[in-house]
Amino acid sequence: MRNLERLLTGLLLLATLPLIAQAETGRELHEENCINCHAEMEGGDGSGIYTRENRFIDDRDSLETQVQRCASNQDLQWFEDEVEAVADHLDEEYYDF
Ligand code: HEC
Repeated sequence: MRNLERLLTGLLLLATLPLIAQAETGRELHEENCINCHAEMEGGDGSGIYTRENRFIDDRDSLETQVQRCASNQDLQWFEDEVEAVADHLDEEYYDF
């Protein structure tokens, strides 16, 4: 019985982990690959580039396009879901589309 409980708890954990990982991944990918350059341009943690008055991203589609563009500039070969995870993160923190 105890073993069965352990097994079920384990399975439940395995099933939920990817969801948690996804949210973390966007933040982490962004921290690892995106902040340096923006920080050089805008100072601070670089997030000013997402909140500046003349920012040019005005909807979710163009956000994803720009994430992809900046990633490609770095020779990062991101999959669709990585682009999406980073766009989710930026959307949540700064853009609010
Ligand atoms: C080598 C420098 C550099 C790196 C690294 C970089 N960017 Fe950028 N990013 C820029 C520049 C330059 C602009 C502004 C372009 C402009 O103002 O015309 C920009 C603008 C942006 C914008 C639009 C901001 C707005 O106006 O609303 C987003 C979103 C963005 N970058 C996302 C990312 C993401 C995600 C990464 C990581 C994959 C990243 N950038 C990495 C140089 C960089």
